[in-house]
Amino acid sequence: MALAAYLLGSLSFAVIVSRVMGLNDPRTYGSKNPGATNVLRSGSKKAAVVTLLLDGAKGWLPVALVTWFGPAHGLGEGSVALAALGAFLGHLYPVFFRFVGGKGVATAAGVLLGLHWALGLAVLLTWVLVAVVSRYSSLSALIASVAAPLYYMMGDGELWITNPPVLFAVCAMSLLLIYRHAENIGRLARGQESKLGQKKK
Ligand code: G3P
Repeated sequence: MALAAYLLGSLSFAVIVSRVMGLNDPRTYGSKNPGATNVLRSGSKKAAVVTLLLDGAKGWLPVALVTWFGPAHGLGEGSVALAALGAFLGHLYPVFFRFVGGKGVATAAGVLLGLHWALGLAVLLTWVLVAVVSRYSSLSALIASVAAPLYYMMGDGELWITNPPVLFAVCAMSLLLIYRHAENIGRLARGQESKLGQKKK
């Protein structure tokens, strides 16, 4: 199950969608990151939205399937956590793309929506709020990834029950996501980060 989630996560939709739509490989321009933000720099909003939705769906699907059908097959919260991490790690280190993947923002959002719609929505709204104010996709992702474990813990007993394996998965995703944004953090600090909507060669 974790392997299936990893293989699904390994489908780097930024590369696949760009290829299908006849666009340049996102690994060759802009930040060179295979993700929706960089695909947007190609000038194709449609390709960026399709990439965002598919990268999100591959995080959501395994988590939702294990949450829905797992209990009937003896799969508990540990399996939910493994499905989440499998899909996320697949995106970061895709077996189909020489283990060179993206930063995991859309996939993490999908995973969080799969864990609980309200958790995903709260994190997405945080991303949107920071993006509207700052116009930086990376800064929005960084702040949303710090917020995600806090929101998860805040929901305990109210909207969902905080489970240690899932809490571990949410924290691990946030830490890895921040780690993958190391170059963005440097560019933000130097005032060189490109804003949303800016094209880059
Ligand atoms: O989705 C990744 C985003 O946070 C940063 O992307 O291309 O600006 O490095 P990028």
